[in-house]
Amino acid sequence: MFVTVLLLLVALSARGGHSEETEEAQRPGHVSVIIVGATGDLAKKYLWQGFFQLYVNQVSSGNTFFFHGGGLSPADKGTPVLFEALKAVSCSKDVSQERCAVLKDQFLRLSQYRQLKTLEDYQELAKHIEQQLQEEGMTEAGRLFYLSVPAFAYADIAEKINSSCRPTSGAWLRVVLEKPFGHDFRSAQLLASHLGNSLKDEEMYRIDHYLGKQVVSKILPFRIENREFLDPIWNKHYIERIEIVVKETLDVTGRIPFYDQYGVIRDVLQNHLTEVMTLLTMKLPKNVSSSEEVLQNKLEIFSSLLPLAKNQAVIGQYQAYKSEVQQELNKTKDHVSLTPTFAAVLAHIDETQYEGVPILLTSGKMLDERVGYARILFKNDMFCLQRHNGIHCKPKQIVFYFGHGDLQYPAILVSKNLFKPALIDSDWKEVTEHTDVSVLGLSISDYYVQTPTEQREAYAELISHIFAGCKNSFISTENLLASWSLWTPLLSSLASSFPRIYPGGVDNGGLLDVRLKGRDISYNSEVVIITPDQMGGTSANDFQVMQGKFRSADMVSAWAEELVERLAVDIQEAAEAAVRESGVFHLALSGGSTPLALFHRLVLHHFSFPWRDTHVWMVDERCVPLTELESNFHSMHDHLLQHVRIPYYNIHPMPVQLNQRLCVEEDRGALQYEKELSKWVNGSSLHFVLLGVGYDGHTASLFPGSKVSEHGESLVALTESPIKPHQRMSLTFNAINRAHRVALLVMGKGKHELITQLSRVKDNLDKYPVTGVKPDHGTLVWYIDYDALLG
Ligand code: BG6
Repeated sequence: MFVTVLLLLVALSARGGHSEETEEAQRPGHVSVIIVGATGDLAKKYLWQGFFQLYVNQVSSGNTFFFHGGGLSPADKGTPVLFEALKAVSCSKDVSQERCAVLKDQFLRLSQYRQLKTLEDYQELAKHIEQQLQEEGMTEAGRLFYLSVPAFAYADIAEKINSSCRPTSGAWLRVVLEKPFGHDFRSAQLLASHLGNSLKDEEMYRIDHYLGKQVVSKILPFRIENREFLDPIWNKHYIERIEIVVKETLDVTGRIPFYDQYGVIRDVLQNHLTEVMTLLTMKLPKNVSSSEEVLQNKLEIFSSLLPLAKNQAVIGQYQAYKSEVQQELNKTKDHVSLTPTFAAVLAHIDETQYEGVPILLTSGKMLDERVGYARILFKNDMFCLQRHNGIHCKPKQIVFYFGHGDLQYPAILVSKNLFKPALIDSDWKEVTEHTDVSVLGLSISDYYVQTPTEQREAYAELISHIFAGCKNSFISTENLLASWSLWTPLLSSLASSFPRIYPGGVDNGGLLDVRLKGRDISYNSEVVIITPDQMGGTSANDFQVMQGKFRSADMVSAWAEELVERLAVDIQEAAEAAVRESGVFHLALSGGSTPLALFHRLVLHHFSFPWRDTHVWMVDERCVPLTELESNFHSMHDHLLQHVRIPYYNIHPMPVQLNQRLCVEEDRGALQYEKELSKWVNGSSLHFVLLGVGYDGHTASLFPGSKVSEHGESLVALTESPIKPHQRMSLTFNAINRAHRVALLVMGKGKHELITQLSRVKDNLDKYPVTGVKPDHGTLVWYIDYDALLG
């Protein structure tokens, strides 16, 4: 039967081979294609269709083929599944129905399922290929292994291929691998070195299917073809920003065991979006088909990308994800996953050409629409007094539109106020008649639009490149490691951050809108929704210390003990830095019971704390004699000051008792303390202020309803408390907000209600005085324990 089929093949005519074929691939002969994982999702959805297309294109090239579908199941189980997948393949429009039927029939007969599990199975496969070659008297052109299996199986399969399936007599071996290529830099390096033991670099084809998308593969040719227009404007003087966006509407159900370990940054940003970014920003190669030159130029961009820090990323997680994880991973109701399903990351290139140009990479699941694009938005210095709708007043942009969305087809769009682009090649056409849609703020008629004459699937494109031995559209080891070295530090710094929870679909509204400010990115809206349900009930056992945002400031959260430990470390670090810089550390401490655990921690565990150079100030004081138990100073003295080696003259109690009376206006105690502060503290800017928050939202001794506006410029004021003792002395917001660093410590279940309210309310000093804590130039960090956070 094999002979008949092969003869039939030669008699058939079809489209010629790929234009980028190498000499190696052009030497006709027999090609064995082996898909390992042939009945998996990817194979069913894309790979068999891609190989069928290859077969159709190559059928008259003089090559012959055999397709082995490999899987772990025995042949009687795997064969029917494979044939279901094979039956689904289809021809492109230019192939007649009759011819398509013949081609499909041949393809089916040239394909066979086989179990590929043990070394013996691979040896059997090799024997089978040799036999076919001998029987037909064919020379072998090559063997193409497509590993569509989980990455942990790669090294083992590569070893089996190396030891038993290498072709002899100069035929090629190509092994195709699908991401994930590692989880971070180290694991990618390890995987690369394991694979390197069995395969040569030129034998490995690491797929990034975005490089097979028609629009993506034309980014470089487009830039080259339109050099004349682009050269003058492809730089910081003209480019406002670059956005690379892949929005998806689907969730990740069914893929959670994989996805929960990876998340959107590893799944999409590290690979697809990063590749697009390098294509947009790399130096243009002299020869676009030289994979060495393209790689070299890509690596240059990687080396000039500025490191990505935590403030260059925001992350989110769709609301239903948590329960999907619990279900698919068999977890209990309290299980919390921090895996992001949405991320927006801001990158910058440290090169004169792109200095300061923001590059936004963003992707997410369960968003409002499915669309992918890269947009280069140019600055527009036009001011239109009257005709705002005139073309010159509209956005100037080039959009590489990967597909879907409102346009529904892949295209390159250039706004008409930029230039008329040259057609990239004969496989592309200009679109002049459109249905009226708008793309990224511009009506389609405001663009010059180009699209491929025939739409082709990324996988089919890449399979034809693999067959042609053209390595341009694949990820080399160096490229891969360069990308991981960019992403790994960011991934580590985000490892314990809370993603913002979003409802999914159009309901997301503006929740995931981001704001770019210099090097930083943040969510535009300040809402943080915290409910026990979203946070995983009352248990956050899996986490020691987590970081996130609360009222748009940084938040550290942990169980009480860990939280206090962390705060003590942070205070010591701040102390050491201040002493290093200015020889002195000014620390203001609040009263109440919450900080006592912190005081104990400092006393018992921080022997190297620079107390000698520390001045301790008070945030507030009750108007009682310092010897009374109720006095804040008294408790601070008992729990902290008497246990550490701090010079007496570095301690600054509040002068609530003057002239043998307590907090009398005329005695001007507040002014005295203010003067003392001004005298000792540079610019009256304390280095560290520790605050708490009361059940009623008060902080320091600034209570709801107290008229803080009456404090004017004062740093210290006498205030009134609704509870006894009523009279207080307190730092004002002027003093607090001058500080370099403010910590707000909130602990205990009793504060949960308040924390939930605070997460939702706008600033309201009258009702929630604590919302007035907003350091002018310093930073604010909320330290909230799980009891207060989760209730
Ligand atoms: C894959 C990711 O690599 O790319 C998926 O694993 C994602 O999570 C997909 O959905 C997006 O590809 P496309 O071609 O649909 O944009």
